[in-house]
Amino acid sequence: MAEQPGEQPYGNGPRAREAAARPAGSVGAAIRLEHLTKVYPGGAGPAVDDVSMEIGAGETVVLVGPSGCGKSTTLKMINRLIEPTSGRIRIGDEDVTGIDPVRLRRKVGYAIQASGLFPHMTVAQNVALVPRMAGWSAARTRERVEEMLGLVGLDPGEFRHRYPRQLSGGQQQRVGVARALAADPPVLLMDEPFGAVDPVTRDHLQDELLRLQRELRKTIVFVTHDFDEAIKLGDRIAVLRERSRLAQFDTPEAILTHPADAFVAGFVGSGAALKRLHLARVRDVPVADVPTAHLGDPPEAIAGLLRDGGTGAVLLLDGDRRPHTWLRRGDRPPAPPPAAPAGTPVTGTVPRDATLRDALEAVLTDPAGRVAVTGPRGEYTGVLDLATLRGTVQALLAADRAEALAHQRALRGAHGAGAGTAQEGPGGPGGAA
Ligand SMILES: Nc1ncnc2c1ncn2[C@@H]1O[C@H](COP(=O)(O)OP(=O)(O)OP(=O)(O)O)[C@@H](O)[C@H]1O
Ligand SMILES: [Mg+2]
Repeated sequence: MAEQPGEQPYGNGPRAREAAARPAGSVGAAIRLEHLTKVYPGGAGPAVDDVSMEIGAGETVVLVGPSGCGKSTTLKMINRLIEPTSGRIRIGDEDVTGIDPVRLRRKVGYAIQASGLFPHMTVAQNVALVPRMAGWSAARTRERVEEMLGLVGLDPGEFRHRYPRQLSGGQQQRVGVARALAADPPVLLMDEPFGAVDPVTRDHLQDELLRLQRELRKTIVFVTHDFDEAIKLGDRIAVLRERSRLAQFDTPEAILTHPADAFVAGFVGSGAALKRLHLARVRDVPVADVPTAHLGDPPEAIAGLLRDGGTGAVLLLDGDRRPHTWLRRGDRPPAPPPAAPAGTPVTGTVPRDATLRDALEAVLTDPAGRVAVTGPRGEYTGVLDLATLRGTVQALLAADRAEALAHQRALRGAHGAGAGTAQEGPGGPGGAA
């Protein structure tokens, strides 16, 4: 196995820094593509032409580009579902260009748009596929299937024996991700894995993937058409033009603020501030605090808080410190049960893992223009409002521009003044010129 426990994840963004703080060991393996080319029989020219890329261990790289530009072909060459016409692939220390493809696929998980589940196999059989191929014992495989289903949020008791046709699209895609992860491969390839579901489910699946990736730190190569998906998920994004040529390979921040050329700019589009909201998480920004009290607290204490708390509002928490009711000045403090509760019930909260885009949605739809932020068990951790969000986004955009500029200067310093339009990542050759 080509795991490299000593190797640190790539980049120095917040995600990479967070990963570096975690004990090494489960981190994925680096991938290096060297001059990969694919000419399909009968094709007019190469579908993929001389692509070179380095992907760091534990890094998530997203390939975006127009339909037919060669994203899927590039991805499938990494696990040799498609054999390269020329060029080499390295995973960790190993040159995998010539090894037995079946052995290769055990260390490379693969999830695709249509979920790719075998219709005649149950959920459990689908997830068990690669562990069984790898010769795991029945008991270990069974345990692993339970673990993986739990990981992607499907109750094994309920779903284990179902067939794919008995699942929703989003559930099928979860099973697809569980199957790709089952043999604990250091590398995960995902080809538009969330393409076939509605935007809400897709958003949810993206959040799940980010959560998983914080725990597992695989090396992920992810293909999408959707630039917003790319900036949400990618540590770095490779924008590809025809024949998979690299137009730009850099962090989302750098691509957003300094697109290399008109082609990349066309992909990024306008609306940097709105896009930036997708990129930042609530836990990364300062939240405000409001006075809180508990549901059973004496009414006179709550009334005192309302009067003297300074914000004109008090958030009542339940026994588990979860936001329960907003009380505003003028509201009658709640009488002890069974009297009807006063104030406005809390209808929506955002978890600390949510994007600022989700937080903005919640703030805009809240009658008082603010939303309570919750921790892992739904407990209150703070409050976001419009003014805080606006200040945060403006500060983030300014910091992005400063960082992108410093980054560009460092690149120019490293490569001389004549650096071309195809940018390189912070640590290695970016690819085909
Ligand atoms: N098996 C094949 N035989 C011949 N040509 C192929 C084959 N598979 C793909 N191609 C061609 O290679 C090019 C790249 O295809 P590929 O599937 O990699 O594109 P893609 O970027 O994934 O597109 P999409 O976003 O539409 O999925 C296309 O022009 C396609 O027609
Ligand atoms: Mg494709």
